[in-house]
Amino acid sequence: MHKKYEFDYESYDDSSELRPEDQELLSKARAITAQAYAPYSQFYVGAVARLKNGQFVAGTNQENASYPVGICAERVLLGNAAMLYPGVPIDTIAISYNSEQVEPAHPISPCGMCRQALLEYETRTLEPIRLILSGQEGKVFIIKTVAALLPFAFTSSELQ
Ligand code: THU
Repeated sequence: MHKKYEFDYESYDDSSELRPEDQELLSKARAITAQAYAPYSQFYVGAVARLKNGQFVAGTNQENASYPVGICAERVLLGNAAMLYPGVPIDTIAISYNSEQVEPAHPISPCGMCRQALLEYETRTLEPIRLILSGQEGKVFIIKTVAALLPFAFTSSELQ
C-alpha cells in the first residue's frame, strides 16, 4: 500500500506580512545572531522563543575548536528555557542567521539533531511549538508544529 506524508506551512515574501508579535520575535532572532560564537563556520545563528507565559528565551550557536563539540542555537535555547522556566511550554521559536558567505534572504531550518531535541520539548510540554524561519531579510516560513519536520520520529514511547 502506498502512503504519503504531507505537511502545511506558510510562506511570506517579507516579515512585514507577519502579525506584530511574530515580527517582534523574528526581529529579536535576527538581532541576537550577533551574540553567536561561530569563529569556525562564520555562520551566526540566533533563536528566540516566546513562551506561553509571555517570557522570551534565546540561544545562539556556540562552536568549539574541537568542531563536534559545538552546539546549535536551538539546543542552547532549549537548555535555557528548561532551566529558566521549567515546565512552561514554548509557543513560538523564531530562527535566523547571519553569514557573509551565504545570501541572507532564505530561511534555514533546524538540523536533524535539533529537530529531535525540539520534538522532545514539544512532547514533554504537551504543546505544539510553532517555528518562524527566516534569514536577515526576505522570505519567511512558518511551521505549526515541530512534529511536522520529523516524521517517523523515535520518541520515548519506543522505550516503554
Ligand atoms: N547551526 C545552528 O546553530 N542551527 C541550525 O539550525 C543550523 C546550524 C549552526 C551549527 C554551526 O555552528 C553552524 O551553524 C554551521 O553549521
